[in-house]
Amino acid sequence: MKNCILAIESSCDDSSIAILDKDNFNCLFHKKISQEKEHSHYGGVVPELAARLHSEALPKILQQCKSYFDKLCAIAVTNEPGLSVSLVGGIAMAKSLALALDVPLIAINHLKGHIYSLFLEQKEEYDMGILLVSGGHTMVLKVDEKGFLEILAKSNDDSFGESFDKVAKMMNLGYPGGVVIENLAKKARIKNFHFSVPMIHSKELNFSFSGLKNQTRLELTKHQHLDENTKSEIAYAFEEAACLHIIDKCRKIFTKHRFKKFGVVGGASANLNLRGRLQTLCEEFECELKLAPLEFCADNALMIARAAISAYERGEFVGVNEDILSPKNTNLARL
Ligand code: KG4
Ligand code: ZN
Repeated sequence: MKNCILAIESSCDDSSIAILDKDNFNCLFHKKISQEKEHSHYGGVVPELAARLHSEALPKILQQCKSYFDKLCAIAVTNEPGLSVSLVGGIAMAKSLALALDVPLIAINHLKGHIYSLFLEQKEEYDMGILLVSGGHTMVLKVDEKGFLEILAKSNDDSFGESFDKVAKMMNLGYPGGVVIENLAKKARIKNFHFSVPMIHSKELNFSFSGLKNQTRLELTKHQHLDENTKSEIAYAFEEAACLHIIDKCRKIFTKHRFKKFGVVGGASANLNLRGRLQTLCEEFECELKLAPLEFCADNALMIARAAISAYERGEFVGVNEDILSPKNTNLARL
């Protein structure tokens, strides 16, 4: 029976393919090849390198799941937002597959994919708030009773994850910086440094991480020789202020919007300090906290395949001749 969807994710620095049974959410195949090591040396993602690595990794992964091709009823691919040179590799492969297998093509917004990481094995839920914290985006969204999405707040500059990456780069700790900074912060014994929480007295709901990044840069320039203890204490002070900024803005949003459920998704939602603080905040507002499984917070094709199941049920297909690449589009109409 043809009841499975193959999804391709290549929006940034992860090449991933997943195959999901659309009738029972059963995962038949999931593989991801990350490029972190290759980009680490440069302190960030180098687009041309990312594109070349996708063109090597995606065919390799596809080769491994060939035996499932006769079960496929659709091909899905991330088409926005992301690095255009990375997205095109996945889109070209998806279009060729859809043509060759004569099945429909589904285009999935990457941010929507992250939201679906909350519902990998279940039907999606509506009427809730969502915090999306990744390398490219930081936003709070409202999903209404019918599944329509509204952005309530977003970052005016850097994203939460990006600020960790930039601080790691300042300390020569490679890329990506999230896990490195979190692990370093855990080692801090004395809490000598203190950074102010961005916009704490402002009523504005949007986030801003660039000031905190500069506070951290200024502190780092005061130290000619950074020993391990100082590094960990600065990492701790930075992480505290970054997490408290998210909590402060979410608290302000919670007082305006009484969510019954609050989902937290995106690569940076793996941060345990943030998870713990959000749990406390949600308890205070009697709101159920829903977290994506730790292994599916970061970019992966499984969340894209899961989002594609709902798109398939609604008949949301695109043509193989359509120009679906839209690197900057963060508009999300509905789940
Ligand atoms: O969602 P994702 O895999 O890619 C994008 O869509 O951007 O998120 C990657 C981002 C990177 O900036 C990475 O440093 C950050 O998530 N990240 C973290 C943690 N783990 C990953 N940031 C803070 N703490 C973490 N534990
Ligand atoms: Zn992502």
